[in-house]
Amino acid sequence: MKPLRQIGSLVLLGWALGSVAPALAQSAQDNARALHVRQLAANCAACHGTDGRAVTGSPVAALAGMPAGKTMEALQDYKAGKREPTVMHQIAKGLTDAQMKTLADYFAAQKP
Ligand code: HEC
Repeated sequence: MKPLRQIGSLVLLGWALGSVAPALAQSAQDNARALHVRQLAANCAACHGTDGRAVTGSPVAALAGMPAGKTMEALQDYKAGKREPTVMHQIAKGLTDAQMKTLADYFAAQKP
């Protein structure tokens, strides 16, 4: 009888781990994703301010709260050379469409 109960406990343990592990993996994935987004946005902070909130008096546009579509369009236009070539057209050249979308969504979600 005893070995059977042990097997029962093991089965239960396996079931419990099986249901917890995916949740842990998911939260680790969410954390990694959040880190990735913040790291990407940090590239913009030197000129546009932390989280896109421009320093008071800065001539550089604040990105926080800018509609994602507007940010996306501006970045694509810089990359395509449709906007006057400035420092931004060089920066935009280094961004993929997916990175632009990630940045545009991130800044749109920030409080101005
Ligand atoms: C070295 C400074 C610098 C960095 C770094 C920088 N920018 Fe810019 N950005 C500017 C300047 C200056 C402008 C104003 C227009 C111009 O000169 O091109 C601008 C303009 C923009 C605009 C257009 C704003 C508008 O109102 O039309 C967007 C969008 C933008 N930047 C996004 C970004 C993103 C996203 C990053 C990070 C990947 C970034 N910038 C990094 C300097 C910078």
